[in-house]
Amino acid sequence: MPFTELRSERLALRQLVPSDAQTIFEYRSRPEVSLFQSWGLESSAEIESQIESLAGREPGAPGSWYQLGITVSSSGALLGDCGFHVLGPEPRQVEFGISLVPEYQGHGYATEALRLLLDYLFFQLGKHRAFCSVDPRNVRSIALMVRVGMRKEAHFVKSFWFKGEWVDDLIFAMLAREWKTMRAN
Ligand SMILES: CC(C)(COP(=O)(O)OP(=O)(O)OC[C@H]1O[C@@H](n2cnc3c(N)ncnc32)[C@H](O)[C@@H]1OP(=O)(O)O)[C@@H](O)C(=O)NCCC(=O)NCCS
Repeated sequence: MPFTELRSERLALRQLVPSDAQTIFEYRSRPEVSLFQSWGLESSAEIESQIESLAGREPGAPGSWYQLGITVSSSGALLGDCGFHVLGPEPRQVEFGISLVPEYQGHGYATEALRLLLDYLFFQLGKHRAFCSVDPRNVRSIALMVRVGMRKEAHFVKSFWFKGEWVDDLIFAMLAREWKTMRAN
């Protein structure tokens, strides 16, 4: 099923277009955005070619990442992105991540975007479980997970080789039935 824009009160999650690459490059270059992220810093041209490669991709296709732009509905400004990865061996499970431009942090936009994404994954794509890997030092990300009701289900100790050292890894997860119960109340 092709992706169609997701809308909430203040935001629209839309497909990325090649002209977003420069903005994404600029905020990904900022240390406060990249500090706990495992992606390497790409050039604007590399980001543009990744966006082009998403064009014909099925959002729920097993084994692939899909990335969405988070925009403010009123102005169209791109304030960040969220990505999700449908696991190859078990396509009913999805890993996700999210980044916001620092100036747009602290207004509840990530919370709103993540709720839209979880609605999409569970209600439209029919996924069973969504999870996020979080560095225990990433306090804003942990607060976000707690705010949307994600369950902390694992703390792996020195399990992840990250930027030249072994670091701990927290797993926050949500099941479809948990999300549906939460949304109904
Ligand atoms: C992780 C990240 C997306 C969280 O963003 P965030 O801005 O902290 O989260 P939100 O947008 O939901 O904003 C929450 C803040 O807005 C406030 N807020 C204001 N209006 C709000 C509303 N309507 N709903 C919820 N929160 C609201 C909250 O009280 C909270 O304030 P606080 O930061 O003083 O506690 C952001 O820190 C980021 O991009 N980090 C860099 C990339 C990264 O590490 N990503 C995580 C990898 S998974």
